[in-house]
Amino acid sequence: MIVGVPTEIKTDEYRVALTPAGVRELAEHGHEVVIEAGAGEGSAISDEDYRSQGARMLPDAEAVFGEAEMIVKVKEPQPDEVARLEARHLLFTYLHLAPDPDLTRGLVESGATCVAYETVEDTRGRLPLLAPMSEVAGKIATQAGAFMLEKPLGGRGILLGGVPGVAAANVMIIGGGVVGMNAAFIALGMEASVYVYDRSIDRLRELDIAFGGRADTCYASTLDIEKRLPEADLVIGAVLVHGAKAPYVVRRDQLKLMKRNAVLVDVSIDQGGCFETSRPTTHSDPTYEVDGVTHYCVANMPGAVPITSTSALTNATLPYVLHLADAGPERAAQENRGLAKGFNVVAGKVTYQPVAEATGQPYVELGEALGAAA
Ligand SMILES: NC(=O)c1ccc[n+]([C@@H]2O[C@H](COP(=O)([O-])OP(=O)(O)OC[C@H]3O[C@@H](n4cnc5c(N)ncnc54)[C@H](O)[C@@H]3O)[C@@H](O)[C@H]2O)c1
Repeated sequence: MIVGVPTEIKTDEYRVALTPAGVRELAEHGHEVVIEAGAGEGSAISDEDYRSQGARMLPDAEAVFGEAEMIVKVKEPQPDEVARLEARHLLFTYLHLAPDPDLTRGLVESGATCVAYETVEDTRGRLPLLAPMSEVAGKIATQAGAFMLEKPLGGRGILLGGVPGVAAANVMIIGGGVVGMNAAFIALGMEASVYVYDRSIDRLRELDIAFGGRADTCYASTLDIEKRLPEADLVIGAVLVHGAKAPYVVRRDQLKLMKRNAVLVDVSIDQGGCFETSRPTTHSDPTYEVDGVTHYCVANMPGAVPITSTSALTNATLPYVLHLADAGPERAAQENRGLAKGFNVVAGKVTYQPVAEATGQPYVELGEALGAAA
């Protein structure tokens, strides 16, 4: 198969979908890899690094989409990229379609087979291709929140860890999955007072053991969240319902309960956001204010640390890229049921139920759609 990697074009996105190690593995499996010149620059990977492992560099995205059968990316395709997709393409990338009916429609109309990193599952129902970026985003969430709490940046002017004789800040984390746990570990490392909320009792049990009593675990009822909001200096939103639009865990009318210039970090913004007042922001302009509360809602937080994120992402995606390239999409989906969960759009049909429900598209079983595509 010819595997193509274009340069990421989303604002402030510096990651790339394949490292030279990935090129080498694909080449050893007999595949050809074409990469847009300069695609690795943001992650400190040169064209020569790729070339030396067997990649062919192409001058622009048009050439990559023109030659490749499988397109491997990081972020959801931007309008110019959607326009380049054809029915013969297999697209493998983050898609986050549930909150984005326009992109879903664009992919349906392209006829391409579109496999989303974030809905691929492992044998235990976990999300192996979301996890590495959630680890990064969780760590950044606390870092960014601590920074935004500084007075010159519009924050309350409180130090997360306090000092002897002065109390630490209160960090409230709603959603204790991969993002939430990593955010909590950094907040604990900075010596803040940490409260983690989740609706899964089993998850709260796991967190309780992981924190060894250093953070409080709390059930995420509306009332309990509301009771803690007035004390919080930093609130990190990290909930996820697999593949679906994020539920709201803080409503606009609850902002008035919060301290002036407290900070909300909505990591779930890529699934539509879990605070009612969230809207996507960028690394260049990361915050805005609503009712006296700073909102940080960067949709590609790991893009800020591409040297870490590119390696972490491609370590996880490479086995799936190889399987898709070796077996082709139809056989790969049959051989790996977890990978089959990643198929969101196939041959003009939405094949992932939560996306169909959220975007108002008809749902078609994967087997039926793949059969029609063959
Ligand atoms: N902004 C970014 O750059 C970025 C980067 C990585 C991940 N993310 C997003 O972060 C979110 C979290 O990802 P994750 O990997 O931690 O997911 P996860 O599945 O590991 O964890 C989500 C947690 O939310 C909990 N939850 C669900 N509904 C809840 C509710 N109503 N109240 C409280 N808890 C609830 C679940 O029980 C689970 O423990 C996802 O939307 C993911 O796409 C964003």
